[in-house]
Amino acid sequence: MILPIYIYGQPVLRKVAEDIDPENYPRLKELIEDMFETMHNADGVGLAAPQVGLKDRIFVVDLTVLAEDDPEFEGFKKVFINAHILERTGDIELIDEGCLSLPGIHEKVPRENRIRIQYLDENLQPHEEEFEGFKARAIQHEYDHLDGILFVDRITPLRKRLIKGKLSNLTKGKIDCHYKVKTLLPGSSNRHS
Ligand code: NI
Repeated sequence: MILPIYIYGQPVLRKVAEDIDPENYPRLKELIEDMFETMHNADGVGLAAPQVGLKDRIFVVDLTVLAEDDPEFEGFKKVFINAHILERTGDIELIDEGCLSLPGIHEKVPRENRIRIQYLDENLQPHEEEFEGFKARAIQHEYDHLDGILFVDRITPLRKRLIKGKLSNLTKGKIDCHYKVKTLLPGSSNRHS
């Protein structure tokens, strides 16, 4: 089932998400399926639970669409439950990012290019793994959502000032994208609202 994606301005995007008790979490499988479906429908490569209105420490990443250009991403479709980054190391890289909760905005974001993270996978198996490069970046972007952080919080004050108008339009529901969204105020230009 495709879920509406919560847009910048929605308070849930600013909450710190909490670990779930997987044994007592009904419909976890369905939620994960819905998150992948919602993400693919919106042409995204990652989606975190707060983006569908939930304060749970769950996110999904699917970079397989990039495998055509780079075999490193072959089969990289992963679920991260109760994720906690243990370490961020390596060089800081500045790379363009976007976010399904901030349609129409793309900015260069500085991030460490290597991380170590612990999480449960979709079968509730525990992992502690290192990731680097774009994988580490995609994971950090989604992980930020679990801490109520958005990529525009990590850009320079100047860039932030330059996109102020765009951000305020998002909170007002003035938005143009092809997927189903939930804005803070009822929108005018979204064809789904
Ligand atoms: Ni995002």
